[in-house]
Amino acid sequence: MDSPVSEREVRSFPFPSAPGLKLEPEYETLQRDEPVSRVVFPYGEPAWLVTRYADVRTTLSDPRFSRASSLERDVPRVTAENFSGGIVAMDPPEHTRVRAVCRRAFTPRTIARLRERATTIAVDLLEDAVTAPEFDGVEDFALPFTLKMVCELLGVPYEDRHQFRHWAEAGLATTSISEDERWRATGNMWDYVARLVADRRRSARDDLISAMVACQAETATVSDEELVIVVMTILVAGYETTSTQLPNFVYLLLEDPARYQALVGEPEVIPSAVEELMRYVPLEANGASPRYATEDVVLSGTLIEAGSPVVAATVIANRDPAVFREPHRLDFRREPNPHFGFGIGAHFCLGAPLARLELRVALEVLTAALPGLRLADRESAVGWKAGMLVRGPSKLVLTAGTGDPRGAKTS
Ligand code: HEM
Repeated sequence: MDSPVSEREVRSFPFPSAPGLKLEPEYETLQRDEPVSRVVFPYGEPAWLVTRYADVRTTLSDPRFSRASSLERDVPRVTAENFSGGIVAMDPPEHTRVRAVCRRAFTPRTIARLRERATTIAVDLLEDAVTAPEFDGVEDFALPFTLKMVCELLGVPYEDRHQFRHWAEAGLATTSISEDERWRATGNMWDYVARLVADRRRSARDDLISAMVACQAETATVSDEELVIVVMTILVAGYETTSTQLPNFVYLLLEDPARYQALVGEPEVIPSAVEELMRYVPLEANGASPRYATEDVVLSGTLIEAGSPVVAATVIANRDPAVFREPHRLDFRREPNPHFGFGIGAHFCLGAPLARLELRVALEVLTAALPGLRLADRESAVGWKAGMLVRGPSKLVLTAGTGDPRGAKTS
């Protein structure tokens, strides 16, 4: 067993940000030399940080770890208030009960129907974008693409995007807004979603909110408040992550044009390239939501006492050489690829089928329509988000090169 807690070095967390999509060097050192280490966040009690694949898997999927306890504790966090709540902060069986209301969200039929719509939306956006010599891969493509998809899925009016985009960003901000602004934004989002749910209760439509309302009525196991929280979570999680991850992918593909050309030449590799990019991109900027040990657990030889918070660093677990050969290399044919990009365990990303579909379709359409796509040739072409839970470009100026988006419509 390792040295007692009191003798451990305590490091400040998050580590100073590495530029762009680089991973902070502290992670690799810790994974090799001190896989279970002590960290202290700007707020909350000290925590254990685990960096190896096996320990991250245990922390996220073993029932001896709880998310719900974080609501009763001074949880390690980057914001003054603990904004966590809802489905992401529940434990089974509560969590299982609430999550069940979404069981009709991603049936094979829904996904098949969404694929066609996704292709049309992506092609239409590119048609508009390439009318100018340059376009922004974030504002002109990734954001409207992912927003339209989640709006259509849920049945949220796309015209309202300016309002809820602001609220959603506030929900995912860490240091870039004040606590007051965040409370206001969350309250506004709540009222907005509650109105939509009430509307579908009065008259159902062919959308996910109506399906969830029907499921709630049938099973009578989910309260009105819980339903609103689930819809809010899907709306926010449903576009912010994907609209950040897609520009991350495009950036990495164009940073080394041979990567992009590999997908242009072999589009059948795109599904496994999406998995590899999911593994490789360190999307989370501040570590995953902490879990609390409900009993004593030993991780990599260190005793985690019951009641201690543990932060699972998926960003470096995804580069663990014990699981991934040449972990710092992008290998579009990596097989198997059991990454944690969508998490693991009870809270495994509910929207993973939609996210995968969107990322695949976007790369299929981009590479088929614009084989000569490249980053605009200047330093300022790429800007990066700051003070958010996720990392990714705030702008990504692209030059279309030759190509015709309409050519991708039949693919
Ligand atoms: C590339 C895009 C996405 C990434 C990287 C991503 C990542 C994740 C991760 C890592 C978790 C687990 C968090 C944890 O264990 O604490 C999660 C949960 C979740 N995601 Fe996603 N996600 C993406 C897209 C989406 C989409 C498109 C939707 C909805 C349409 C969605 C809805 C959710 C929900 C509702 C949860 C909470 C599930 C629960 O607590 O049971 N996500 N996501």
